[in-house]
Amino acid sequence: MRFYFAPLEGITRYIFRNAYEKNYGGIDKYFAPFISPTHNCFLTPKNIRELCPEHNDKINLIPQILTNNPVAFVGAANELKAMGYDEINLNLGCPSGTVCAKRKGAGLLSEWYELEKLLDGIYEWAGKNNTIISIKTRLGRFEPDEFYDILEIYNKYPISELIIHPRVEKDYYKGEPRLEYFEYAVKNSVNPVVYNGNLFEAEDIKKRNNDTCVMLGRGLLYNPELIEQYNYESDYDFDFKRFWNFHDEIYHDYQEIMGGDKNVLFHMKELWTYWRSLYPDSDRDIKHILKSKNYGEYEAALRNLK
Ligand SMILES: Cc1cc2nc3c(=O)[nH]c(=O)nc-3n(C[C@H](O)[C@H](O)[C@H](O)COP(=O)(O)O)c2cc1C
Repeated sequence: MRFYFAPLEGITRYIFRNAYEKNYGGIDKYFAPFISPTHNCFLTPKNIRELCPEHNDKINLIPQILTNNPVAFVGAANELKAMGYDEINLNLGCPSGTVCAKRKGAGLLSEWYELEKLLDGIYEWAGKNNTIISIKTRLGRFEPDEFYDILEIYNKYPISELIIHPRVEKDYYKGEPRLEYFEYAVKNSVNPVVYNGNLFEAEDIKKRNNDTCVMLGRGLLYNPELIEQYNYESDYDFDFKRFWNFHDEIYHDYQEIMGGDKNVLFHMKELWTYWRSLYPDSDRDIKHILKSKNYGEYEAALRNLK
């Protein structure tokens, strides 16, 4: 089974990706959180810092673009190509209200004419530029049955991989993924499909043993050893020493690139909303971590937890 690390905006940044690769590894492709090119600016300095080869030379990284505009896509794709990327992913799944209101991400899934115009522009460029384009999609915007027509559109294009998160926009990340629609895609997509959604335990991954590849997101945050637990099928103890190395690398590297306690702690606390599941009996200590206002308070709370 091949494993892809899902893009998680604000979380799977280059510092996180490198720390994960060094301490855990086992990932065939890391998908970068989306960039949003505009007519005036295809890649911001922050985008370049996140995606530049120097910061990503130890991993296989796939950049992701969120747009409904072929000109903006091609502009950004040309710059990414110049940086050495041969695969680019198109985001057709983001459920955020502001994104969807602009008919981007999952918001474009109800605008079939515009969707086809975008895909025409993208695949024409890709054919001429020797680049493969994968797509990460939801089933539709409002109702999952929209997927039957959307898949017909996708089937007109040489999509290198169609990564499906089988929910609609309004599901956000809640409820059970609609597996029957993914099975429909397995049977009816002319392009390879990849499953993504709610794989949190080794048992969940085992249920997908017929797939050659899956994309994991929050599961790898809740449990960074998830892939090893699936691969080795043993009930071994979680390696906390390795987890703390992973934590410390992220914490120190964020301190180097970000100004001030507030910014760094904001990012660490977001991680702790997932990592707290590693310490199910330590609610009080986790609360102290989440309430800490400076490095001193944060580190004191960590010492209690350890
Ligand atoms: C905090 C957060 C940020 C996300 N950012 C992105 C993103 O930048 N691009 C994208 O395609 N999906 C994004 N997603 C969706 C995930 O990639 C993934 O599809 C979703 O979490 C379901 O997979 P999971 O159940 O394995 O986590 C995000 C999800 C979360 C929770």
